[in-house]
Amino acid sequence: MRAMVYRGPYKVRVEDKDVPRIEHPNDAIVRVTLAAICGSDLHLYHGMMPDTRVGHTFGHEFIGVVDKVGPSVQNLSVGDRVMVPFNVYCGSCFFCARGLYSNCHNVNPNATAVGGIYGYSHSTGGYDGGQAEYVRVPFADVGPQRIPEWMDDEDAVLLTDALSTGYFGAQLGDIHEGDVVVVLGSGPVGLFAARSAWLMGAGRVIVVDHLDYRLEKARTFAYAETINFAEHDDLVVLLKKMTDHLGADVVIDAVGAEADGNLLQHVTSAKLKLQGGSPVALNWAIDSVRKGGTVSVMGAYGPMFSAVKFGDAMNKGLTIRTNQAPVKRQWPRLFEHIRNGYLKPSDIVTHRIPLEHIAEGYHMFSAKLDGCIKTLVVPDAA
Ligand SMILES: NC(=O)c1ccc[n+]([C@@H]2O[C@H](COP(=O)([O-])OP(=O)(O)OC[C@H]3O[C@@H](n4cnc5c(N)ncnc54)[C@H](O)[C@@H]3O)[C@@H](O)[C@H]2O)c1
Ligand SMILES: [Zn+2]
Ligand SMILES: [Zn+2]
Repeated sequence: MRAMVYRGPYKVRVEDKDVPRIEHPNDAIVRVTLAAICGSDLHLYHGMMPDTRVGHTFGHEFIGVVDKVGPSVQNLSVGDRVMVPFNVYCGSCFFCARGLYSNCHNVNPNATAVGGIYGYSHSTGGYDGGQAEYVRVPFADVGPQRIPEWMDDEDAVLLTDALSTGYFGAQLGDIHEGDVVVVLGSGPVGLFAARSAWLMGAGRVIVVDHLDYRLEKARTFAYAETINFAEHDDLVVLLKKMTDHLGADVVIDAVGAEADGNLLQHVTSAKLKLQGGSPVALNWAIDSVRKGGTVSVMGAYGPMFSAVKFGDAMNKGLTIRTNQAPVKRQWPRLFEHIRNGYLKPSDIVTHRIPLEHIAEGYHMFSAKLDGCIKTLVVPDAA
């Protein structure tokens, strides 16, 4: 089969690989019909994630058709059209029993924090991902779900991560009626978080980025006020001025460890790799939320992180909530919002490319070229 393969930082290509086999009775093999590239994949692409091995196939956003099932699989049949959450999880451990699917204890012997994620390096279990013609899906009775007849493929693939994560980010913000919600980052996760904030009763939603074309999308898709942080000396002061000098009730970090906005942090983290990443967005969140407010962190961070203003968070009495999204938990409500027409996730898709062109797709998304917000990938066997 053809599959995207990592060759080293900023180097990916499509190669021939063996079609994955059933390795466990509860495995399924899914023929991928549509995949996507996530902002998280860029952390791998940039060489920022530990233990990203040459030969690994990325891709944790994908849907497809069940091609084979192991002998113990009961909920799926060959030929089913399925959506697969980005989490690999057992469904029955202490953590899964509490809905913490992204923290499953049985799927990732390399870590005690994160659980398993498709195509996301050996630090999340080493599972090959779905930017390929076929993918092995462990615990096939647990994660995947048949796609409802009425749901479009492009909406389904966005439910496997970006939309569910944005919605989860707004949920963790614990938004109360009338709250001022600031979303840092106008990528897919930030756009979906901003849009979801309204569904939870926000009174005002402000999206921050430095890419005007993405801020435009935040206005038209998420009905948000927008700020280009590059046009202001001090984002925190500006946000304070906009919120009666108190600060926002809720700030959602949809940026993560590769934040721009501070040259020194950018050079020492992304370029020189002297630290695990740049804390700029997280510190902006801590500084611009009001005392007693909530910071919801959806942006991805590696295990060690420096220069975070934790003392300010402590002394302001903040609630900081974060996790990898437990995707399937968000599905029932989001299915209804999509079916009722409150949300059309595929409105944020800007590019659709064949799998063979995935190297260009990564470059375009990484360099934010051609108005790129979300790129879908169509495998050749689809
Ligand atoms: N928690 C989860 O389950 C989960 C799931 C998916 C993605 N993520 C993470 O969420 C983050 C966003 O993902 P995405 O797909 O939207 O990525 P993306 O790269 O498309 O978007 C990030 C945006 O942040 C902007 N940005 C950079 N520095 C900023 C700053 N200091 N302030 C405000 N904006 C800034 C960028 O210009 C970009 O538009 C990534 O870190 C990704 O790894 C987490
Ligand atoms: Zn992702
Ligand atoms: Zn589990």
